[in-house]
Amino acid sequence: MGSLRLFPEPFLPIVRSSPAPAAADLFQEEPRLESLDKQHEEQMDAVLTAPVSLDSLDDWVKTHHCNSLDKRNVGEQVTMMGWVQRRRDHGGLIFVDLRDREGITQVVFDPQVDARAHERAHLLRSEYVIAVQGRVRNRPEGMTNPKLPTGAVEVITSHLKILNTAKTPPFHIEDDVDVSENIRLRYRYMDLRRPRMAKNLVMRHRAAQITRNYLDAQGFIEVETPVLTKSTPEGARDYLVPSRVNPGRFYALPQSPQIFKQLLMVAGLDRYYQIVKCFRDEDLRADRQPEFTQVDMELSFVREETIYELIEGWLTELFGQLLGIELQTPFPRLSYGDAMDRFGTDRPDTRFALHLVNVTDIARMSQVKVFQQALEHGGIVDALRVPRGSTLSRKELDDLIEFVKVYGAKGMAWIKILPDGWQSPIAKFIQEDVRADLTRRLGLEPGDIVFFLADQQKVVHDGLGNLRVRLAHQLNLVDPQTYNFVWVNEFPLLEWDHEEKRYTSVHHPFTSPMEEDMHLLADQPEKVRSRAYDLVLNGIEVGGGSIRIHRQDMQERVFRALGIESEEAQNKFGFLLEALQHGAPPHGGIAFGFDRLLMLLSHSASIRDVIAFPKTQKATCLMSGAPSEPEIRQLLELCVKIDSQ
Ligand code: AMO
Ligand code: AMP
Repeated sequence: MGSLRLFPEPFLPIVRSSPAPAAADLFQEEPRLESLDKQHEEQMDAVLTAPVSLDSLDDWVKTHHCNSLDKRNVGEQVTMMGWVQRRRDHGGLIFVDLRDREGITQVVFDPQVDARAHERAHLLRSEYVIAVQGRVRNRPEGMTNPKLPTGAVEVITSHLKILNTAKTPPFHIEDDVDVSENIRLRYRYMDLRRPRMAKNLVMRHRAAQITRNYLDAQGFIEVETPVLTKSTPEGARDYLVPSRVNPGRFYALPQSPQIFKQLLMVAGLDRYYQIVKCFRDEDLRADRQPEFTQVDMELSFVREETIYELIEGWLTELFGQLLGIELQTPFPRLSYGDAMDRFGTDRPDTRFALHLVNVTDIARMSQVKVFQQALEHGGIVDALRVPRGSTLSRKELDDLIEFVKVYGAKGMAWIKILPDGWQSPIAKFIQEDVRADLTRRLGLEPGDIVFFLADQQKVVHDGLGNLRVRLAHQLNLVDPQTYNFVWVNEFPLLEWDHEEKRYTSVHHPFTSPMEEDMHLLADQPEKVRSRAYDLVLNGIEVGGGSIRIHRQDMQERVFRALGIESEEAQNKFGFLLEALQHGAPPHGGIAFGFDRLLMLLSHSASIRDVIAFPKTQKATCLMSGAPSEPEIRQLLELCVKIDSQ
């Protein structure tokens, strides 16, 4: 386990002044600054002051990368280049772990083989850039390293070139480095030298290649859509870009290529895809970035089935080629209503079998006051049975009750099913017949615990939905190697926005309602289901899309239900509405969060670990200092004035 090495004052700019304001408070974890011992300090002074004459590459050409040599290469002359991972001096020999993107090879400097190379090797420090020429040989008996693919061999060096020196690195270049994320982001180019990070970028590249090959074989055409464009309604705030040549006007960066991909269908492209940057100014979380990448697709003359099959085929390729995992298709499907009832969320993690069960009818017959009160106010009562959960301590139960309160619950009742009876604060208010009904409905067995929430439906679903996930992790019910996909469909078309006091689209306003629900659009719009679908993987929404409205009359009806007046519709999406009148084919599509998929494929904790240069939770770049203040001259040209209030 490495630890953060602090180097002398002048070489640690981030500690004293960071480029972006308030960088330190962006992440919970602060850098652990350890004081240097005297010897280390002297050593580093030596490093920083020792003059090293640098060599030029000349006609040297790399013959092998640092993960390519094994016993089959023994005896070969090789030329290798990379970074010094570590230098060790042993009994007159100097050993260097030479690292590049692919891996590590041990190179040896022996004064008997080349005195000058051996002499120069004394100068080497971590992260120096070097080139070596030498011969591959077997490592001596007992010196092999089975953990390294190249661990059976080493290169005995005959020539060394020092191509560049390096300051003492802000952290060790190794996987389990104990360093705060803000330092990693500040020195991202060093962070990306760490094997895990480099592996993530290689995996990302391969995933993009597999995607392109698959979609190409399925008849898709990659088309680039504009970045300086108009607002797209995906529900987030836009990033705006002022136009110098049109003073007072702004482009919006696309939240998605939604409208353009639909226009490409009208244009007759039939099957479009793009691996595309999208921009959303929203509050950031571990699985969100202000600029992120979508694998975006649109197809003409299709219904849901074709899209499901297409995506299942693509993901089968991705998981097969990248992880060697064979996915079971077709993926299970769940209606939005069922997802909410059973999991309390439309993003169910189906890797573990804890389910919410509605027990409103049974609770009504009990004498539990909190149940009755909730029911009088139009609420519901749901139960969550946790097999073998009766071992949870009082303190653990209290923590769980506090946990559900975060979601608006006022409290949470529980019953432990013990061999000698029920133990619970509410047991005495539950008569025998009600007990029998609960036992039957929930399949209760000795050793179980059951949690009950009584409240408005949203609070119950949020509380127990999140509780089931927390408990599954707490009780080790989640296998991190399992990938459970589930399609969620039949979403409501609209939802009521309490702030704006009007209906808004659950997906986006171009999503088609289900034909059989159309008659409800005028009078009971909240009952209309849409032809939208999400793909959820282990509780994370990785993709979402819909069959679109392709007829202008239907689009206008939906706009009307959304309270979008004709004029507003014309202003915002007039070009799409017009296109729908010029022979728009039936069409539909989907977009995947490429970063989120990669995060899950690589078992990364954060989306930032699969993005080369990500932003912090405050949408800043700790390395470049973006966003930065513009020059006054630029603002004048753009006719933009900053109101500093
Ligand atoms: P949606 O808004 O659901 O649909 O986005 C599609 C997928 O993009 C990913 N995603 C994000 N990833 C990282 N950071 C973000 N801020 C972020 N926001 C979204 C999610 C999500 O499932 N135009 C429609 C698609 C369509 O209808 O075809 C759209 O953008 O994984
Ligand atoms: P009280 O009547 O407030 O003493 O609550 C009795 C039991 O019901 C306690 O165990 C509370 O934690 C629990 N409780 C309180 N509010 C709720 C609720 N909304 N849903 C389920 N249980 C609740």
